[in-house]
Amino acid sequence: MLQHGEESMQAVEEALQRYDLVPKTRQRLEDSHEAMYESLTSMKALLEDGGLVPEFHQMFEHSPLENLSEYYHHILRDWAWDDQRSQYFATHVNDENLKRIKKVWLKQKPEFILALGAGAGRLSWDIHVNFNPKLTIATDINPVLLASAIRLIKQQRPLTLPELYKYPQIGFPHAAKWKMKPANDPDAKRDSWIALGADVWNMPLKPRSVDCIVTSWLLDVAGGDVRDLIGVITYLLKPGGQWINTGPLLYSPSLPFDQKYSAEEIKQFASLAGFEIKKENIDEIAHMASPINARFHHEQIWSFAATKKYAEEDLPYPKKPTDDNWLTPGWLIIHHLPVPQLHFACPHEHDLVEKVFSLVDGKRSIQDISYSLQALMPEGIIAKEAVVALFAEALEFMGTE
Ligand SMILES: C[S@@+](CC[C@H](N)C(=O)[O-])C[C@H]1O[C@@H](n2cnc3c(N)ncnc32)[C@H](O)[C@@H]1O
Repeated sequence: MLQHGEESMQAVEEALQRYDLVPKTRQRLEDSHEAMYESLTSMKALLEDGGLVPEFHQMFEHSPLENLSEYYHHILRDWAWDDQRSQYFATHVNDENLKRIKKVWLKQKPEFILALGAGAGRLSWDIHVNFNPKLTIATDINPVLLASAIRLIKQQRPLTLPELYKYPQIGFPHAAKWKMKPANDPDAKRDSWIALGADVWNMPLKPRSVDCIVTSWLLDVAGGDVRDLIGVITYLLKPGGQWINTGPLLYSPSLPFDQKYSAEEIKQFASLAGFEIKKENIDEIAHMASPINARFHHEQIWSFAATKKYAEEDLPYPKKPTDDNWLTPGWLIIHHLPVPQLHFACPHEHDLVEKVFSLVDGKRSIQDISYSLQALMPEGIIAKEAVVALFAEALEFMGTE
C-alpha cells in the first residue's frame, strides 16, 4: 500500500513539472499530492505506533488494493463523518448502525462480546458502551484499521486523516482533512474493550468461551465459505450464546459462485449447526455516504440474532443412514460438526478409507479429520474435499446395503 502510494505521488509530482497546466489543475494536483502524502505518513505512523515496521515482500507485490483503500474509508465513516449531520440518516450513520443491532438484540446480558472483523472498531465500541459487558474483544486482520481503533478508543488520542477522491463531483471538494476526536469514553469503559489482531480462520481463543459474537459486514468478505465461518462462530460460542449478524450478501468476486449463498441457504446452515434465528430484519441503507462525495452505495442489509440452541454433540439429527428423515447429514455439510460413529466396512481394502474411518470417534469433525490427513495427501488434493467425497460414498453404500 505504501509502495503504491509513493508511485501515485511520484506520478503527480511529474505531472506538476508540466508547463501546460491551468492554475486550477495545478491546484488540484497540489492538493491531491498533499492528501496522498498525509495519508501515507499517517498510516506509517499508525503502524509504527503499534511496533509494526513496513517491509517489502514479493508475495504481495501484485495484491489488489481495492479492499484496503475501501476499508481506509471505513476509518472515516466510523470516526470522522459523524462530525456533520448526515443527509441520509436521522442523525448519523453510526447511530443507525447501532439501532439496527439494538432492534434484533435478544434480551441477554453477555459478559464477553467478540466482534469479528470489527474494522476501525466503532460499532464494537458503541455495542460495548451500550450493553456494558465485562469484556469486548474487537478483532480484525487489517492492522491499519485496528491501529486507528486503538488510538481513538484505547489511547484516547485524536487522529487526523485526509480523504481524497479521484473523480470530481461538482459542488464537492475532491479532498478534505478530518481531525477525528477520541471515542467518548463514559466511566472509562475502554479498560474492558480490547483490540486483537487476528485472522478469523485461526482465532486464538478458547472454544465455547464467548457469550455473544457480532459479525458486521463480514459474512460475505471474510475470504472463505460461509459454512466454515458459521463453524468458527459455533466453535467459539458457548451453548445458549447469541450470534448477531448485520450486513449485505455482497460476496467477494473471488468467491466461487456456488459459495455465494442466499439468506435462505445461510439459515439452513445455521440451523444445521444448532442455531435458532430469533429475530431478523431487512433494511436498505445508504452506505459509505461521505459528506464530500455525491456518490454512495445503496445496500440491502440483513440483520439477525440467533442463539446457539444446541451444543455440537447434542444436535438432534438422525445419526444413522437407516434412521427416518435421514437426509444429507448436517456434519457432511457443516464441516466442524462431529462425525457420528459409523460402522462402515469397506468392501475393498483401501488405506485412505481405513485411515479416515480410524479417526472417526464421534467427536472429531470433517475439519479435524482432514486437518490431520492433509500432509498425507498427494499434491494438489485437498484433504477436506477427499474426505467429504469418501464419507458421502460410504453413506450411500451403507444406505443401499
Ligand atoms: C466490510 S469490512 C466491515 C468492518 C466493520 N465490521 C463494519 O461493520 O464496518 C470487513 C472487515 O473484515 C475484515 N476481515 C476480512 N477478512 C478477515 C479475516 N480473515 N480475519 C479477520 N478480519 C477479516 C476486514 O479487514 C474488514 O475490516
